[in-house]
Amino acid sequence: MAENQKTATLSLDGTTYELPVLSPSAGPDVLDIRKLYGQADVFTYDPGFTSTASCESKITYIDGDKGELLYRGYPIDQLAEKSHYLEVCYLLLYGELPTRAQMEDFEYRITRHTMIHEQIHNFFRGFRRDSHPMATMVGVVGAMSAFYHDSLDINDPWQREVASMRLIAKLPTIAAMAYKYSIGQPFVYPRNDLSYAENFLNMCFSVPAEPYKVEPALAKAMDRIFTLHADHEQNASTSTVRLAGSSGANPFACIAAGIACLWGPAHGGANQACLEMLREIGSVDKIPEYIKRAKDKDDPFRLMGFGHRVYKNFDPRAKVMKESADEVLDLLGIHDNPTLQVAKELEKIALEDEYFVSKKLYPNVDFYSGIILEAMGFPTSMFTPIFALSRTVGWISQWKEMIEDPTNKIGRPRQLYTGATFRDYVDVEKR
Ligand code: CMC
Repeated sequence: MAENQKTATLSLDGTTYELPVLSPSAGPDVLDIRKLYGQADVFTYDPGFTSTASCESKITYIDGDKGELLYRGYPIDQLAEKSHYLEVCYLLLYGELPTRAQMEDFEYRITRHTMIHEQIHNFFRGFRRDSHPMATMVGVVGAMSAFYHDSLDINDPWQREVASMRLIAKLPTIAAMAYKYSIGQPFVYPRNDLSYAENFLNMCFSVPAEPYKVEPALAKAMDRIFTLHADHEQNASTSTVRLAGSSGANPFACIAAGIACLWGPAHGGANQACLEMLREIGSVDKIPEYIKRAKDKDDPFRLMGFGHRVYKNFDPRAKVMKESADEVLDLLGIHDNPTLQVAKELEKIALEDEYFVSKKLYPNVDFYSGIILEAMGFPTSMFTPIFALSRTVGWISQWKEMIEDPTNKIGRPRQLYTGATFRDYVDVEKR
């Protein structure tokens, strides 16, 4: 161990072990236990990874106590106000903000990959019309590995780059197609003269029978939603993508795994669940009843859109999202939106309630996003697909970082085994 290396001492059965302490550029120190099993014959136990750093990363930083979220060092509120989604994609992927020329080149590369292989249309048609768009997306994104054979070699940096461009460019097309399919309308091809957000809205809402003009302010709100969801360090779906990728699986399979994980209501599925909950509450006078249920240990009900593993002060994305909700509803002339009224009142009551205050439960990104998306015309089933397409750049950036790390190893946690120990097989007549 180097002379100035900070260490921690572990004492076990009379023997002491020196554990190196790693210092990050921000955040708490990290005990390096990589050699612990070999030296002391013990594992560490941390279900849910509440105290475990699973990797080294330079992409996103969260300070949960301060309510701070940084992409490559830049705070999310500044990016939401001054930047735009494709610039944020560039930043996450390559580490720096692009020059004008770099941005133009990146936009050109993304927009030249927006169409999907025509045969994938047939694949879509195999799904039931009433399939949830997330179910369709998991299948179609996984199936991309069967269509883009020239970007499956993860050891070739060029192929990794092409796969990244394809995923960022095609996910909006796939999400919009999943939506169109579910409502029985024809697929709308991407238009490269539109911005990333405009193109997505056009693919979702235009029909061949009449012209459709994307409202620029709505495109801006859409772009901001993409930006706010672009990355969030080692959350469940990102860790899933990393774990899948650690075995050498191809990028399309890894992103499909990430989409599957995101779907759950404790993660990306919370935006759909939250809006459904707000609708179910329906009016301000019913709020106390739901607050009571959320506090009852014997009731599985939780306030959706509330709480976060890392944020213990506020979720900075929720703050921007709340402002956006007001702007969008104003723009659309929706002044007495009952869901927004319930949301605002629920937030107020919960933030004053001893249970939520003592457990540091605050509104998260999913609390207000559904209200904006619903006002834009999206059904609740599209909320999580929109989260998935926004997060694709984060998954891809984290996947690339892992593949490019020479110390990368297959992810293989151990366990605290509490099952039966060795026993001989018993013949059926003797059981
Ligand atoms: N409503 C009521 N009680 C809650 C809630 C909630 N939304 N969230 C946490 N608690 C309670 C929980 O019962 C526990 O109480 P106790 O200590 O008495 O057992 C305590 O707070 C700690 O909760 P936890 O489940 O141990 O915390 P966690 O870090 O494992 O879970 C969470 C974080 C986000 C899964 C959880 O807060 C939750 O289920 N929230 C609702 C779903 C949601 O909005 N998810 C979106 C998260 S942000 C976007 C994303 O990740 O995709």
